[in-house]
Amino acid sequence: MKRMKLLLTLLLALLLLAACNSSNEADGPADNDATGGEEPATTEVDEELEAAKAKFEPLGEIPVPEDNEMTEEKIALGQMLYFDERLSGNNKLSCASCHAPGAGYGDGLATFIGFEGFEGHRNSPTIINSGYYKENFWDGRAGGLEEQALGPIQAEGEMNQNLDELIEELNAVPGYVDEFNKVFNDKITADNIAKAIATFERTIVVKDTAFDKYLAGDDDAISDEAKEGMKLFVGKASCISCHAGPLLSDHNYHNLGMEGDDGRFAVTGNETDKGKFRTSGLRGIADTAPYMHDGSLATLEDVVNYYNTGGGAHPNKSELMKPLNLTQEEVSYLVAFLESMSGDIPMVEKPELPQ
Ligand code: HEC
Ligand code: HEC
Repeated sequence: MKRMKLLLTLLLALLLLAACNSSNEADGPADNDATGGEEPATTEVDEELEAAKAKFEPLGEIPVPEDNEMTEEKIALGQMLYFDERLSGNNKLSCASCHAPGAGYGDGLATFIGFEGFEGHRNSPTIINSGYYKENFWDGRAGGLEEQALGPIQAEGEMNQNLDELIEELNAVPGYVDEFNKVFNDKITADNIAKAIATFERTIVVKDTAFDKYLAGDDDAISDEAKEGMKLFVGKASCISCHAGPLLSDHNYHNLGMEGDDGRFAVTGNETDKGKFRTSGLRGIADTAPYMHDGSLATLEDVVNYYNTGGGAHPNKSELMKPLNLTQEEVSYLVAFLESMSGDIPMVEKPELPQ
């Protein structure tokens, strides 16, 4: 009889243990304090972390187009043009007005304010790592930085400058004539302006973050919270379905459920592209608030909470957008992980401009 009781108790204990373990797996190992007592968790946790870590890659060198090699002199010229208000129609706005080093190379606003107070409907994205994208702009309408650069100069709502007039204006500045001659062995042309600016932008890179140090083998480079976040990023929250590859962007377009902007549709004309935007890369992300094409999410916590609800109500919403059932603690782990992907951003100043 006694023996029977002992056996039963043992069986019960075993069953309980099994139940604990499986509930553990479902909840994630982060909040297992309450289940108490069991020690095999550590090895299991490490395996999950190692498997998660193996899904990430370092960013590598920025791609440079064959016909626009990087030279010190070209970078310096690009930096002058980037900060020069004379590139705008009223000589009041430069690229740096909306992509300011002190604001993470954005403007800190939800949506941009342009020429003579023009109110834009999109967020000024950061230019950090923008040279790694295959296509630029939120909707990918430019094939690269050279193509992109001439857009804002001419856009009525942005710098509102006629290109022929700009070239005339810059030709009246002897310092610029010399600079272009030195860098390109050529005149001032729209093409050369774009090439110089793009070259400067390729120096604004964030790739040596705590997250990257961790990938490279420094186990203490990121916090335990960030490590939990990494597991969630590839697991329960499946952020990696879109934020994948070296840039943490699949270079593809997705609809997260946000309404009010047709996004990629304007480029392709395909109904299925309505409301799709390019997946953002994530390095440097802690410095580039507010977030999304419309700047509608103020903090990284807001972003993760948005995903946690499964996104908005756009009829074309991606099937990958589903409620995630993350606890607030798990949300904070994901935020910690996103923060670990940021680090020092290159700080450049307005150089002395040619006269
Ligand atoms: C008045 C504000 C404003 C000015 C001035 C401005 N931009 Fe932008 N920039 C934006 C906005 C807004 C977007 C996003 C537009 C979109 O995607 O439709 C953008 C997008 C970009 C992108 C794309 C980034 C990416 O993730 O693909 C780059 C690069 C860029 N700008 C560089 C420049 C350069 C270079 C200049 C100067 C020649 C400049 N911008 C001037 C507001 C501005
Ligand atoms: C279905 C694909 C997809 C999934 C899944 C996804 N993202 Fe995104 N992410 C995007 C796209 C597309 C954008 C740009 C959307 C926009 O601008 O409206 C974006 C933007 C972001 C931004 C803001 C970038 C910026 O510069 O404003 C952050 C941060 C972010 N995602 C983090 C995450 C996290 C964390 C997860 C997981 C919880 C996640 N994403 C899951 C596709 C995805």
